[in-house]
Amino acid sequence: MAIPDFDLVFFGGSGDLAMRKLLPAMFARDVAGDLPASARIICVGRDDATQEEFLHMVETNSKPHIKEAPSGANWDKFIGRITYVALNATDASTFGDLVAALRADESLTRVYYLATPPQIFAKICDNLAATGLATPNSRVVLEKPLGRDLASAKQINLDVGKVFAESQIYRIDHYLGKETVQNLLALRFGNILFEPLWRREWISDVQITIAEKIGVGNRMGYYDNSGALRDMLQNHLLQLLCIVAMEPPASIAPDAVRDAKLQVLRSLKRFTPTTLTHNIVRGQYRSGYIDGQPVPGYRDEPDAPKSSRTETFVAMKAEIDTWRWAGVPFYLRTGKRMSDRLAEIVVRFKPIPHSIFNQPTSSFQPNSLVIRLQPDEGLSMNLMAKTPGDSMRLKQAELELDFREQFTSPRMEAYERLLLDVLRGQLTLFMRGDELEAAWEWVEPILEHWEQDDSSPAPYTSGTWGPAAASALIGRDGLQWREES
Ligand code: BG6
Repeated sequence: MAIPDFDLVFFGGSGDLAMRKLLPAMFARDVAGDLPASARIICVGRDDATQEEFLHMVETNSKPHIKEAPSGANWDKFIGRITYVALNATDASTFGDLVAALRADESLTRVYYLATPPQIFAKICDNLAATGLATPNSRVVLEKPLGRDLASAKQINLDVGKVFAESQIYRIDHYLGKETVQNLLALRFGNILFEPLWRREWISDVQITIAEKIGVGNRMGYYDNSGALRDMLQNHLLQLLCIVAMEPPASIAPDAVRDAKLQVLRSLKRFTPTTLTHNIVRGQYRSGYIDGQPVPGYRDEPDAPKSSRTETFVAMKAEIDTWRWAGVPFYLRTGKRMSDRLAEIVVRFKPIPHSIFNQPTSSFQPNSLVIRLQPDEGLSMNLMAKTPGDSMRLKQAELELDFREQFTSPRMEAYERLLLDVLRGQLTLFMRGDELEAAWEWVEPILEHWEQDDSSPAPYTSGTWGPAAASALIGRDGLQWREES
């Protein structure tokens, strides 16, 4: 579907996200020919920079994040679309230049992308309304963090909802824009093979891991008030879990998919103080080595509070109370400064009931399906196969689907796809307000418990797979994390 002409406004337009992700994503789509000739990008920031100074900033801070070196003509065309507007987002009286910069034509799509701290979402929306900019043809995109607990998430929904209808609100979770996540939908609902097996009778457990090598970097101000549970689990990991576990939606229409995901979130078994101590492990990285280079511990990172108890790792065993999933553990894990950069979903099937071969049943590895999101995108199915030769010996073999080899068409970064979806008015890959609240509602008892509990996260050495307690958590069920097996 062609993209209609638009004015796209980035609040936080000189910030890190705009420079590293949003502008490079728009550039890539411009080069691909997706943007209408007269489409424009308005970057809004507090700095009193001139247009020329801002474009210089884009040149130094954003251009290096573009994968393929831009040709002069492409780059000139792209920056020709950009206008910089300096204003104070919390003060409507400073919005004059923004009003003037936007085209008045009501038939144009207008998008306000709020890449700002969530504390000012409400004020920005009020100011857009007060200055007549919140028109019916406009959309608002909310970047994470979408609150820090249930109450603040509800407040955001309420405040933004006073100005924009739900159908105008795009809550971004960039994991939903990743190619493999959509491939998971294709795998589950474009093939007849998996759906009959996709249930407790045939699946023994599911592991979802997002591991990063990077530490907190220069984001300590944000991260130390957040931690891995809020930063990664409440959103990215739960969204992946929803896509794996949801009932088949009737169509790919936004509410069909979002209703199905909401059902999963509402069916997650609630933790109590007792169950959560047994089923959740939190950790914090200490110094160690990543790729052979020494790295400092979390508490020695610049600006870190020396006695911080913020978790940089979390692993848990979750359960979904439905007929389809009752009794199937979903092991979720995420951490910074881990051994490898990796995001994957592992679905393990039940063991065979009986061996007809001269090998005990226990020597048969159960089948498993590995869906890789990062670093490379692919799928592999582990099967038992006969080893070549005279004897009838079976060993595990891999059926591998490498998306890059299989499909040569150009790839899109998550933000490219999601920005195009916003511009097209396609809401399927964005969270609805009730989904956001349901996710917070589920993590809330964990947050509360940790706040009251004065124990500290378990330390782990940078460059490992996290604290030993995380291996013990899954080990109690006779299992191992895939990378550790
Ligand atoms: C962000 C988190 O949402 O996702 C970061 O705030 C994290 O802490 C990032 O590093 C990971 O995203 P990706 O796409 O690099 O896996």
